[in-house]
Amino acid sequence: MIDLKRRNVLRSTLAAAVLTAGAPTLVPPERARARSEHAPFVPDLYIRLIAAEDEARILPGRPTSVWRYRGKVLKGDPRALEFLPGSFLPVMRVRRGQKVRIDLVNELPESTIIHWHGLSVPAPMDGHPRYAIGPRETYVYEFEIVNRAGTYWFHPHPDGRTGKQVYFGMAGLFIVSDDEEAAARLPSGPYDVPLVIQDRTFDGDNQLVYLSSQARGGMMGGGMMAAMMGFLGDRILVNGKPDFVLPVEARAYRLRLLNGSNSRIYKLAWSDGAPVTVIASDGGLLEAPVTQPYVMLAPAARVELWADFSDQPPGSERVLQSLRFDGTAAMGGGMMGGGMMMGMMSGMMSGSSLPDGAPFPILKARVVRASSAKSILPQRLSTIPAPRPQDAVNASYPKIFDITMGMMVWGINGRSFQMEGVTAEETVKLGTSEIWEFRNDAATGMMGMMAHAMHVHGLQYRVLERAVEPQFAAARDSVSAGHLDEGWKDTVLVMPGERVRLLLRFERYDGLYLYHCHMLEHEDSGLMRNYLIKV
Ligand code: C2O
Ligand code: CU
Repeated sequence: MIDLKRRNVLRSTLAAAVLTAGAPTLVPPERARARSEHAPFVPDLYIRLIAAEDEARILPGRPTSVWRYRGKVLKGDPRALEFLPGSFLPVMRVRRGQKVRIDLVNELPESTIIHWHGLSVPAPMDGHPRYAIGPRETYVYEFEIVNRAGTYWFHPHPDGRTGKQVYFGMAGLFIVSDDEEAAARLPSGPYDVPLVIQDRTFDGDNQLVYLSSQARGGMMGGGMMAAMMGFLGDRILVNGKPDFVLPVEARAYRLRLLNGSNSRIYKLAWSDGAPVTVIASDGGLLEAPVTQPYVMLAPAARVELWADFSDQPPGSERVLQSLRFDGTAAMGGGMMGGGMMMGMMSGMMSGSSLPDGAPFPILKARVVRASSAKSILPQRLSTIPAPRPQDAVNASYPKIFDITMGMMVWGINGRSFQMEGVTAEETVKLGTSEIWEFRNDAATGMMGMMAHAMHVHGLQYRVLERAVEPQFAAARDSVSAGHLDEGWKDTVLVMPGERVRLLLRFERYDGLYLYHCHMLEHEDSGLMRNYLIKV
């Protein structure tokens, strides 16, 4: 049970449910169920995370003020919480089937809450903004790891402030392992490398700049524009560091890439033209490796690459870069090259010298040592059931979710986020599957059409198909060889003019969850809605 003395304030609804155990009538049904499934909840792993202000050495010279998670393991394997080398970004490592308790202690000057991105957890554990806690309060998370092995992550989710809190440093990896993954015998230990890619802008004093300086400059200031169109930084950080160099041996590696950027999309490719070999996506290992010329990585999405340096001589280098693409489309589709022009314009408007779709290096892998390790890519990685769209309760009439823009406000089917608001079409039944179609051909704002990254909480879905109207073919063709629609996904890139159909199964928990664009400025300015899973 919960030790009261260790907490200043208990605002966790679950903790409250536990405290009122003698009075079950006070416990709302969804929480009662979350509790009784685990009663009594004995954690295998107990971690305390503290959200706090700090300073970090990112650039030479003055340290940068950041917001971050500190933490410690109170029970269980002490290596379950580590920090990326030389960085304040945390990595939690858990096994499927483990029960975890995590205290979030808020030492920030504003409210916050954590969302476990990609994990399936009971609704009160999912970090919905209505559970945000104020300064000096604590939220207690308790859940079982039911997801398959994979690279998940966690980040804040308070209403209207997610972009700001992630930007100033609040994010961490959440790596799940299981037996199926172990059987694939992939590179492990020092050869299994998490890499968090983020873009940031620094001022002359090494301090982070976010939507601030120009925001007061009037209606069309760059800050205001970026607040609506999406923030783009002009420095690329990997694991919190610029000009990132990864020293490697001449052997195979498993690279786990997270796009932890607020709004930037990456088109990942090797500088020497070698194809990328993808072994996992958002929800863990693919059935078999997939080889593509490049791979798109939308904000919040993950890919895992098999990177084989075994034929590279010591001393050689290989750059992982982002290639040029058309991320935006001119109003009404328009002429060739319009997308790139709009991209540059939006870059200028957002104050970034690195516009959407511009090419740049991300990291350098430097071969420092020969290796005698055998590097054999497994041809079979895992077993994934084929999607069965015919099982969806709405198989012949998919639900349509239009991304909309009205009066400079983002929305879905014309509605912006409301804390408790949920419509009939946003209500689904536990134990059923549905087909949802996200359509990105209605939101023509003043900057033309943009790509979006559609994320659904509480589950992993399958991508069934994509379609694009012919006038948007240029943007589509600049990325289409890089979509990774295999396997389990929780965040999907929807290009300008594109329609993407998903198959979702509402399998495990009922309650109120979110779906939204993971371009955090879009999310914070309305491109988010609730959906309700009913028993
Ligand atoms: Cu990673 Cu609601 O988001
Ligand atoms: Cu968006």
